[in-house]
Amino acid sequence: MFNSNNLNRLFGRTRGRSKKKIDLTKYYQTVAKYKFQNFNKKVDYILDIGTGYGETSIFLAKQFSEKVVISCEKYIDGNIMLLKNIEKNKINNIRLHNGNVYDVLESTNQKCFGLVWIFFPDPWPKNRHAKRRLITTDFLIKIHKLLKKDCKIYIATDSMIYTRFILNSIYNCRDFFIWLNQCEINLDIKDYFNIETKYYKKAINSQRKPSLFILRKL
Ligand SMILES: C[S@@+](CC[C@H](N)C(=O)[O-])C[C@H]1O[C@@H](n2cnc3c(N)ncnc32)[C@H](O)[C@@H]1O
Repeated sequence: MFNSNNLNRLFGRTRGRSKKKIDLTKYYQTVAKYKFQNFNKKVDYILDIGTGYGETSIFLAKQFSEKVVISCEKYIDGNIMLLKNIEKNKINNIRLHNGNVYDVLESTNQKCFGLVWIFFPDPWPKNRHAKRRLITTDFLIKIHKLLKKDCKIYIATDSMIYTRFILNSIYNCRDFFIWLNQCEINLDIKDYFNIETKYYKKAINSQRKPSLFILRKL
């Protein structure tokens, strides 16, 4: 189903730094139980991209129990935590794609998503790595076609470099999206959601103030 010739390569780590051994056979068996397979036209989907340890997917699944959250992440240590929390909380509305979000985006041309969350995408601050950034003008235009009417995209970042890059992409896509919270003084995540992901906590501990950008499809 997924396009294995994906040109949008996924960079970054698949395993954590800990030397702890993982039983990969067991891991892939559990992934198979919750694996995202195909889109169902009757279902309203939430796309959660780069979920790390899965806090956002659990939050969204609880908040929107009538919708299905597609959680995209290739970081195995993070997915193990997500899968544990799915089972612990008896959650039945999360489907995991253990890989690149582009596989999911390229598997459909339907307007499937009612909501998109992208919390702390990797900033790739060095100029020579800028091409690795997920949120670009092309990405926003590509995803626009797959969004339902009035769909919102929530993007959180604590990187000044990425903030400028995201704002530039939003500006380039002004015919596709309206930036809803641009007039507000405060772009604080906590003004909208009570959620603390690993990277949110990292930012706060390092005295970097994260910003949340809210876009709505035009
Ligand atoms: C900085 S971490 C943020 C994790 C989490 N959202 C948080 O707030 O703690 C970014 C994550 O995005 C994942 N990621 C980056 N590009 C991706 C892509 N194209 N598809 C799926 N996941 C991606 C990485 O593997 C990484 O775990």
